[in-house]
Amino acid sequence: MKLSFSSILVFVLLQTLTAGYPFDDVRVLQVAEKDVITVKESEKLNLLRRGVKFFDITKQQQSGYFLRPSEEDPAIPEYTFPTKMNYTNAVHKLISKIDQKNMYDKLAKFTSFYTRYYKSNDGYEAAEWLSKEIESVVDKLPKDMVSIEHFDHKEWKQYSIIVKFKGTVTPDNIVVIGSHLDSINLLFPTLLPAPGADDNGSGTVTNLEALRLFAEYLSSADHVLKNTIEFHFYSAEEAGLLGSLDVFTAYAALKRKVVAMLQQDMTGFVADSKNEHVGVITDYTDKPLTNFVKRVIDTYLSIPYVETECGYACSDHGSATKNGYPGAFVIESEFKQTSKYIHSTMDTLDKLSFSHMAEHTKLVLGTVVELAAWDQF
Ligand SMILES: *[C@@H]1O[C@H](CO)[C@@H](O)[C@H](O)[C@H]1NC(C)=O
Ligand SMILES: [Zn+2]
Repeated sequence: MKLSFSSILVFVLLQTLTAGYPFDDVRVLQVAEKDVITVKESEKLNLLRRGVKFFDITKQQQSGYFLRPSEEDPAIPEYTFPTKMNYTNAVHKLISKIDQKNMYDKLAKFTSFYTRYYKSNDGYEAAEWLSKEIESVVDKLPKDMVSIEHFDHKEWKQYSIIVKFKGTVTPDNIVVIGSHLDSINLLFPTLLPAPGADDNGSGTVTNLEALRLFAEYLSSADHVLKNTIEFHFYSAEEAGLLGSLDVFTAYAALKRKVVAMLQQDMTGFVADSKNEHVGVITDYTDKPLTNFVKRVIDTYLSIPYVETECGYACSDHGSATKNGYPGAFVIESEFKQTSKYIHSTMDTLDKLSFSHMAEHTKLVLGTVVELAAWDQF
C-alpha cells in the first residue's frame, strides 16, 4: 500500500499529540494513596498538563510485583539519625570550594539539549553527556571505591545513572541522593523545546557539584566512608516518576537497605530575594529523616527553611517511600513561591540564582559527609 503525503502527515500529527506513541496504549496511574486509574497515553499527557501528580505503575502492575489498588505501601523502618553534626570542619572546607561558575557552565550545557524528554534521542544524549561528566569527576578515585551504572529501563531509551561510593564498614546501608535528569514541554513533548533549567536541571547540577566535592573529600586521607553513598540521576520523572519507581522497585526486590533518600528537584528559583529560604517538604516524607535534614540546614546553610507541602507523588523521593524507604525532599522555597515557568520553553537559565543552588549543594554535602560516617543504622 502506498501512503499519501497527507496520511503520513496525519500519522505524524497523531504521534505528536500522543507523545510519541504510535499506538495510544493503556497506562495504570496511582493518583492518591488508594486511588488507581486506567487511562490512555494521550489522556495521561492531559493529566500532566492539568498538573495532576501520580505514579505511573503500569510496569509494576503488569509484572504483578506490587500494588493491587487496595494494597498499602510497605511500612518504613524508623532509623536513628545524628542529632549533632560531627564533621563540621570537613564540611565547611568542602562548602568553601563550591564553584558557582562551574555550576552555571554545567547547567548551560545541560539546558542546551533541545529537550531532555525521556523518549527523545536528545534526552538520551543528555544522559550520555551527564554520564561522561560524572566519569571525569570520579576518575581519580580507586576503582573499588566508586562505580557508575547505567540503569536500563527497557521500555524507553534514556537511562538513569547510579553512582555508588561503596561503604567500607557497613556497605549494605545505602544513603541515596536523588534528582531527575529529564525535562518536559507539556504542550507538545515530542516537538517543542524543553530547556528544563529549574525543572529540573537545577537539581541535577546541584547534585553534580556536591558529587564533585564529595569525590574530592574521599580522595583525602582523613575521610570516613562507613556506609554506601549513592547519587541517582533519574530518567523520566516528568511522566509519572517512571525512572525512580523502576529503580526503587528493583532495589526492594533485591532487599537492599536504603536508610535515607534525599531528593533535589527545583533548587534555583528565588521569588523574593529579601525572604530567601529553602522549603522543607513535610507531606509524604519521613519524619526522623526530615528532622535530620533540618539540622543540616541549620548547621550548614546561610538561609533558613520554611515547612511546606507539595502533594502526593510530587517528586522522586515518593518512589523511595512507596518501596518502604525513608524519603525527604527540600525544594527551592515555600511551594507557592516556586517557579511558574516549569514545563515550558520559558524555564531558562536567566531566571535562576546560582547562589541559591549553592545552598542546596551545602545541604547535600552536609548530608552525605555526616551520614557516610553514621554507625547507628
Ligand atoms: C565523631 O567523629 C569522630 C572522628 O571520625 C569519631 O571518632 C567519633 O566517634 C564521632 N562521634 C560520633 C558521635 O559520631
Ligand atoms: Zn516537572
